[in-house]
Amino acid sequence: MKRQMHLGLFLLGTGGHTSGWRMPGAVDSFEDFAAIQKIGATAERGCFDLIFMGDNLNVDLKGHPSYAMRFEPLTMLAALSTSTRHIGLGATVSTTYCDPFTVARMFSSLDHLSGGRAAWNAVTTSNPGAAANFGRHHPDHARRYEMAGEFVDVVKGLWDCWDDGAVMANRESGVYFDASKIRPLNHEGDFFKVQGPLNSSRTPQGRPVVLQAGGSEPGMELAARTADVVFSVVQDFDEARAAYASLKGRLPRFGRAAQDVTVLPGVMPVVGRTDREALDKLNALQGFISDGNALGVLSERFDYDFSSHDLDGPVPDLAVPDNYHAFTRVLLSKARRENMTLRDLYSLTAAARGHWVLCGSPETIADTLQHWFENGAADGFNIMPSHFHDAFEDFVDMVVPVLQERGLFRKSYEGTTLRENLGLARPAIHAA
Ligand SMILES: Cc1cc2nc3c(=O)[nH]c(=O)nc-3n(C[C@H](O)[C@H](O)[C@H](O)COP(=O)(O)O)c2cc1C
Repeated sequence: MKRQMHLGLFLLGTGGHTSGWRMPGAVDSFEDFAAIQKIGATAERGCFDLIFMGDNLNVDLKGHPSYAMRFEPLTMLAALSTSTRHIGLGATVSTTYCDPFTVARMFSSLDHLSGGRAAWNAVTTSNPGAAANFGRHHPDHARRYEMAGEFVDVVKGLWDCWDDGAVMANRESGVYFDASKIRPLNHEGDFFKVQGPLNSSRTPQGRPVVLQAGGSEPGMELAARTADVVFSVVQDFDEARAAYASLKGRLPRFGRAAQDVTVLPGVMPVVGRTDREALDKLNALQGFISDGNALGVLSERFDYDFSSHDLDGPVPDLAVPDNYHAFTRVLLSKARRENMTLRDLYSLTAAARGHWVLCGSPETIADTLQHWFENGAADGFNIMPSHFHDAFEDFVDMVVPVLQERGLFRKSYEGTTLRENLGLARPAIHAA
């Protein structure tokens, strides 16, 4: 069989576009569970591998408006697990502002509850605003990644405290556990001290899937060593191909093979029956952007206050800030390549919060995705609909069938767990 694409659905607020909620009939609240259930059903109709929920730990009223209030991801996904059967359920949880025992426990529970569909997006939390909610200083970029490395190791270690078959519950003999299959972790590191074992048995996936999305050097190293799936920020094919090669090229150093990590670049598809119709939809979306909102998103992405700059002047000479390596690098490089004004850059950033926007007919979109997939830039895509429900339904009902006809994407789920659908092996205990 031909190599198959993987598709994730990125769920952030009312959709990837900052102003998508203003489209007629669009979902306008991220606290609408009925809407989220409908999105889950659409994603399963489209045979998506995964729904993945972003998260932040503070409120930014200048950013994506609907993102200011949202469900806590694990709570929401636990509820969603009861109305979905196949799709993977990914939640973002911070390695800077949580503790490994709780994180290991939450994802182990979600994996059990969902029959093997849990995934953890391990983020270091870029936004310094979170610190004020935890009574701490925000560690710098390097330290956040040092903590993250140890954090992920502890979580995986806790998941490995129980072997398969540790729970016997033998009524005749009265033996409940095989104690030789349960062990403590006894971890003492630079940042964490955790005894273990976890109070949760080995999960259906062995270990929940680990996702990562950092684009900096330490981010790529952490992903190469520990992630099963990587979300990347892209704007350009050649750069995406270079980033893909860079990540896959690091894997052998960690005893891993190219197929052990699935790379999914983020993309906001705007689909019309024709290229013209798609462009009209994109223009309608862009027409809803307000200066204040767009500048807020831009300032957040660049950690820089643009308010004193002329919108129709050039993009100022900026360094890549400590916070958002992945986004700023690709956006600045595109702005310089295309000689953008600040207004061009803010329109692009407000559209998909710095992610790639791909606009066209189903065939145009499928052609581009196929080209990226077959030429070393992607193992699939992290789809970020501009809004719900129609923008996502357009992708599922118009683009997915083209990919399926071309033999690039499944027509039904192959496995029962997320790992099986991603084609990833169930980890052996003590595997890397
Ligand atoms: C697709 C994607 C989604 C992300 N989602 C979140 C998120 O929900 N919450 C968060 O705190 N960071 C999120 N991030 C940020 C990254 O995890 C990472 O912390 C950030 O890119 C800074 O790391 P870097 O300097 O290595 O790029 C996301 C990044 C990407 C590319």
